[in-house]
Amino acid sequence: MFDSEFSSIEFAGMKLANRFAVAPMTRVSAQSNGRASDLMQEHYKRYAEGGFALVITEGIYPDQDASQGYENQPGLADALQGESWRPIVREVHESGAKIIAQLMHVGAQMQFNRFGKQPLGITDQKPVGKPLGLYGDQEAWQDAKAMDESDFERVLNGFLHGIRNAAEAGFDGVELHAANGYLLNELLSTHFNTRDDKWGGDMRRRAQFVLDVVKAAREMVADDFVLGIRLSQITITDPDYQWPEGEEGFTWLVQALSDAGIDYIHTTDNEANRPALKDSTRSLAEVVRDAGIPLIVNGGIDASNYAKMAAHYPGALLALGKAALADPQFVNKVKDGDKPDELDFAMLQPIANLENEMRWREEQQSS
Ligand SMILES: Cc1cc2nc3c(=O)[nH]c(=O)nc-3n(C[C@H](O)[C@H](O)[C@H](O)COP(=O)(O)O)c2cc1C
Repeated sequence: MFDSEFSSIEFAGMKLANRFAVAPMTRVSAQSNGRASDLMQEHYKRYAEGGFALVITEGIYPDQDASQGYENQPGLADALQGESWRPIVREVHESGAKIIAQLMHVGAQMQFNRFGKQPLGITDQKPVGKPLGLYGDQEAWQDAKAMDESDFERVLNGFLHGIRNAAEAGFDGVELHAANGYLLNELLSTHFNTRDDKWGGDMRRRAQFVLDVVKAAREMVADDFVLGIRLSQITITDPDYQWPEGEEGFTWLVQALSDAGIDYIHTTDNEANRPALKDSTRSLAEVVRDAGIPLIVNGGIDASNYAKMAAHYPGALLALGKAALADPQFVNKVKDGDKPDELDFAMLQPIANLENEMRWREEQQSS
C-alpha cells in the first residue's frame, strides 16, 4: 500500500518501518538497584517483533536525587544502569525497531525513592487523589519540598546526566516526560505552580524551565540524537485539568519548544481527538499537527480507529499504550487483517509488573 500507516517513514530524523509506536508504560520490573532486568529485555523485544517501528520506554529516572518515583523503576542515573539497557537496545534494534528512552523526574507524585529523598515539588502542593495502586501500596502522597534555585540547577543537571547515559547506552534518543503530573508537567500546571518568582506566572513563565532543559539538552547531544517531549494537560489522578491560557498558550508552547530544538512533540490525552483546551474545539494533537511540528499522537488508539487517526494526523506516529499491552503483536495482526487481543486488566494485578503479566499469560494459555 502506498503511503499507508504501514509504510516506512522518515520521522524526526529516524527511518522507521511504519507509523506505530509503543507508548511509554511503567512496569516496575527493574532490579532493586534500578538496573534493567532480563524480563525487561524479553518485554521490549516482543514489541519490536510484533511490528512496532518505535519503542518508547517506560519513564526512567535520570539522577540519584529525587527523580525516582516507584519501587523497581529502572534508572539511567549510573554507569551500570546504563550498561543494563544495552542488551535491550541491541535486541530492539536487531528486531528492526528504534528505541527512545523516556526520562522522567517524578516531582510531587513520588511513591518510592531508593535514595530516601523527600519529593521535590514546584510548591508544596500535593497531587489530587491518591497514589496509584498499580505501582505499589503507598496510601497517601508525601509532603513535597518546594524547589529552590539550587534544586532547579540540580534537576537540570540530572536530566543532562540521564541523557548522556542514554546516548552512551545506544538509545536513538530521549523523550522528556512533561506530561501526566510529573515534575516538568507540574511546572506548566497552575494546580502545582503558584510560584510568584521567575518560574511562576503565565504559560510563558511556567514553561521557562522546561525550555531551559530542552535548550541545554539540544546543545549537548549530537545532531542525530532524537530529542522529544511528551505533553499533556491531564495527570495520572486528575483527568480534567486545563491550562488557563487555552489554545493560545499551548500554540505558543509548541512553537517555543520547536524553536528550542525539540525534534518531536508527543501529545497524550484520554482520547487523542477530544477538544482539550479551554474555549477551543481542537485537540492537543491537532494544535501540534497544524503547527507543522513532528507529532506522536496518543490516547485511546486501537484496532477500531487507528486508520482514521492515521488519516487525521498525516505523517504522525500513532502511540499505543493499552492496545500494545494487550497484544504486543498488534501491528502484525492488524496489518494481516487479524483481530488483536483486547486488554484484560487482570494482567496488571495486583501491581503492573512483568512477573504478574507473564503469570497471567501462562494461566491464559493453560486454561
Ligand atoms: C501500565 C501503564 C503504565 C504507564 N506508564 C507511563 C509512563 O511511564 N510514562 C508515560 O508517559 N505514560 C505512561 N502511561 C500512559 C500511557 O503511555 C498512555 O498515555 C495511556 O495509557 C493512554 O494511551 P492508550 O489509550 O493508548 O493506552 C502508562 C499507562 C499504563 C496503562
